[in-house]
Amino acid sequence: MKGLVLSGGKGTRLYPLTFTSAKQLIPVANKPVLFRVIEAIRDADITEIGVVVGDTADEIKAAVQNGSRWGVNITYIHQEAPLGLAHAVKISEDFLGDDRFVMFLGDNVIQGGISPLIKQFASSEWNSQIVLTEVSQPQQYGVAELDDRGRIVHLVEKPKVPPSNLALVGIYMFDQHIFEAVHAIKPSWRGELEITDAIQWLVENGYEVYPYVHRGWWIDTGRPGDMLDANSRVLEEIVPYVEGYVDRDSEVDCRVTVEKGAEIINSVVRGPAIIGENTRLVNSYVGPFTSVYHNCVIQDSEIEHSIVLEHSVIDSLPSRVQDSLIGRHVVLRRSPIRPKALKLTLADYSQVGLL
Ligand code: G1P
Repeated sequence: MKGLVLSGGKGTRLYPLTFTSAKQLIPVANKPVLFRVIEAIRDADITEIGVVVGDTADEIKAAVQNGSRWGVNITYIHQEAPLGLAHAVKISEDFLGDDRFVMFLGDNVIQGGISPLIKQFASSEWNSQIVLTEVSQPQQYGVAELDDRGRIVHLVEKPKVPPSNLALVGIYMFDQHIFEAVHAIKPSWRGELEITDAIQWLVENGYEVYPYVHRGWWIDTGRPGDMLDANSRVLEEIVPYVEGYVDRDSEVDCRVTVEKGAEIINSVVRGPAIIGENTRLVNSYVGPFTSVYHNCVIQDSEIEHSIVLEHSVIDSLPSRVQDSLIGRHVVLRRSPIRPKALKLTLADYSQVGLL
């Protein structure tokens, strides 16, 4: 069995962070979402993984490389434009060959325990297995209608009037018959070859497609709020450890991870939270659901329910930072220099919430 990870797209809803970083590389709980996806596939004993890349190919390749760090072998597949998930399958035909495969969207985060499902599909006779979950806004997703016995009746992409609240999660399993489907379907109203239409084609043509209803959480990390949500969920699941230095004047509870080289001086950290490698906290408070990535400095400040990316500095702020997504090399510092005013250098599409 092989793996296929889709890692293209521009990530416009995450501007300005995605001006300088592919959205799949934004970390939740200090690990890029894409790395979590690769690990989930590796945990299902799959070692041949294709990664479909687009405009951000260079960054993805630099971060993932050949996959040896996870004991897997990565093949990059170029998609010249974001023409749909079924198009990504189409261009991966040479890589996938006759193997059964699992396809993951590289920006989706799902609660653990999906690997047994993939292993089960590997040894089954089914042509496809899809993962569904209940959502409150089904019109934003591919939606499945099931009959009384839980079999698929119909699948539809972003329906105005959804037949159910069961959305297609970004994890799909297929055998080689999916290639007949992706060659047969036509682009949708949004100009994309929809994977939902390809699976509907399998159903209509008598192939066996099994639905699995996932009961845990699942987050499609398209917007800043989704990133914070995914970060909170993953922080609650990881097993904390302390490899960095915590001084005697600090208070760090048992749900806090302190990565190696981090230093916590005269500060309070309430978990779940993670403090990245070589990051320094001095005279500060870090509250629950916060991930501070590598090489940051937080001094005389308070922060909670936020993500801070590498090499950023938060210094002497008069009020607590909360519900925030802070990029790389950002400096947030109280300025004593007159006039007493906000002095901002913000990237295009930045969003600032003031008191
Ligand atoms: C895609 C699929 C949709 C699926 C969703 C999951 O939507 O087309 O069926 O429910 O991913 O994240 P898109 O992100 O392209 O709008």
